[in-house]
Amino acid sequence: MASAVEKKKVLITFFSFSSQTNNLILALSRGMEKYNVEVIRERLIPVNQLRFPIGTIQGTLRMMLVTFFRKRIPIEPIANHCFDDYDLIILAGPTWSYNPSGPILKLFDRDGERLFRNKLVLPLISCRGYWRLHWWGLKRLLCKKGAKVVNLIVFSHPNPEPWRTIGVFLKLAGRIPEKKSWFAGKYRKYGHTKKQLQEAKRFGKMMGKELVQGGKNLHHLNFDTGISRP
Ligand SMILES: Cc1cc2nc3c(=O)[nH]c(=O)nc-3n(C[C@H](O)[C@H](O)[C@H](O)COP(=O)(O)O)c2cc1C
Repeated sequence: MASAVEKKKVLITFFSFSSQTNNLILALSRGMEKYNVEVIRERLIPVNQLRFPIGTIQGTLRMMLVTFFRKRIPIEPIANHCFDDYDLIILAGPTWSYNPSGPILKLFDRDGERLFRNKLVLPLISCRGYWRLHWWGLKRLLCKKGAKVVNLIVFSHPNPEPWRTIGVFLKLAGRIPEKKSWFAGKYRKYGHTKKQLQEAKRFGKMMGKELVQGGKNLHHLNFDTGISRP
């Protein structure tokens, strides 16, 4: 008897501090699921809970400084099924001071070899706009662990500068910049827009279609659009 066609399986390993990556990967998952791809999400959980917003200017400055020096953040063990075989692993998280975030760096140190060796990996970066150093560092780390990096998805916040940087800083420090009268006209919202989430879903559909058609090569998919990186 002919066996049923096996479902394609994608693992999304991710960290999200202020829900932006989380929103993107949920939209991406919904897109892939339209093509009947099985998506397994594994969120990295810091051992000591991180509070968002940080709440103070000093605390925010301190976090920016230590993350600049690539401070690792201890995380709980990840589920055993993360080490199974997948058609694709998506590694998603925010940029922290031009680097991958502390929990993702810890994941590399602890599980990188076992998780990524000989696997197809697609990084997804959520950032306010400065992702290139993060991307270069991440690609180097993945290659060192033996992964095959198949493409890159970056979503940056659509606000213009300098309001974007000021807005992110104020948000982290516990203020509500979009509600301040002097600022609101220039800064509508922290993070990614609905339009960007729809774009993430569209990216998910593109990937789902490619995966079910048997394509392992996602290099040619265009994730660099005016919506994802305005
Ligand atoms: C400590 C810290 C440092 C950050 N540094 C950068 C940076 O260097 N470049 C950038 O574009 N965004 C930076 N950001 C902004 C985040 O990358 C951005 O808000 C992202 O969308 C957050 O995703 P998340 O909610 O999934 O954590 C930083 C945020 C934090 C908390």
